[in-house]
Parts: sequence; C-alpha cells; structure tokens
Amino acid sequence: MKIKIAIGADHGGFELKKALINKLNAEYEILDAGANKFDSTDDYPDFSMPVAQSVSSGKADKGIIICGSGVGACIVANKVPGARASVCHDTYSAHQGVEHDDMNILCLGARVIGIELAFEIANAFLAAKFSGEERHRRRFNKAIEIEKRFLRT
Ligand code: RB5
Repeated sequence: MKIKIAIGADHGGFELKKALINKLNAEYEILDAGANKFDSTDDYPDFSMPVAQSVSSGKADKGIIICGSGVGACIVANKVPGARASVCHDTYSAHQGVEHDDMNILCLGARVIGIELAFEIANAFLAAKFSGEERHRRRFNKAIEIEKRFLRT
C-alpha cells in the first residue's frame, strides 16, 4: 500500500507544489489540499490547516506544505494538535527531524529553494522513520506534555 501524503500550498508555493506532485505521485498517494488554481491573494492558513488536520487525524501519513518561505505554513500547522511541522531546506534536517523528533510535516519555501533540492529534501523526509530510541521518546513526550497543557479544545 502506498504511503499517503497530504500536500498544500498558497500562491507562493503553487508552482512548486505542482512540480513536486508530478515527481512524487508515482510512488506516493497524494491528497492535494489545494490551492487548485493560482490566486495571488490567497492565504497560506487555508492550505496549511487542512494538511495538518489530515496528518493529525491519520487520514494522511505525512504532510508537505509550501509557501513563499515555508514559515507561515509551519506556524499554522503547529497550531493543530498532533502536527509536528518544521521548515527544512537541507536533507540532513529533513530526515533527522523525523528520526529524532517524529516530525510529520515538512514545510518548504518556494522562494528559497528550487524543485530539484525540494525533491531531494522531500525524499529524505518521506523515507525517514522515527528511531524510537529512549532519549528521543523522552524528549518527544515532554513536547506532547506541553501541547496537552495548553490544549483547550
Ligand atoms: C505570500 O506572499 C507569502 O507571505 C507566504 O507565501 C509565506 O511566505 C509566508 O510565510
């Protein structure tokens, strides 16, 4: 069974999302959260939140969100309990973030990196697995405790 990847982007990431989907859809099942057309006035929370929700609910295994810098997308995604998003513009952080921190959403800035590097970073992220080592679980659990402490829903 193919791994399910939720992908979303605002206008800043629209072209990179299209290019990335073209490269990833042979190997992964893609759940495209939009934008479905280029609109220079659209807002990244409208695409970041559905990706984070898909991952948090288990509808998708992992998520990728793209905006101009990756930053706005990441801030929004991390508001959703269960989402663990980070901006990674290098392959080391993209796999180590999963192995040590159980990162489940990769945020990319289409105004920062090009398609080939984005593809390599996405592959590093998608191939990585949480190591489950005790020290990483301990740190992960501390992060989840903080999330629970501030959760109000
Ligand atoms: C949109 O112009 C831009 O601000 C947005 O894509 C993103 O970079 C925010 O972090």
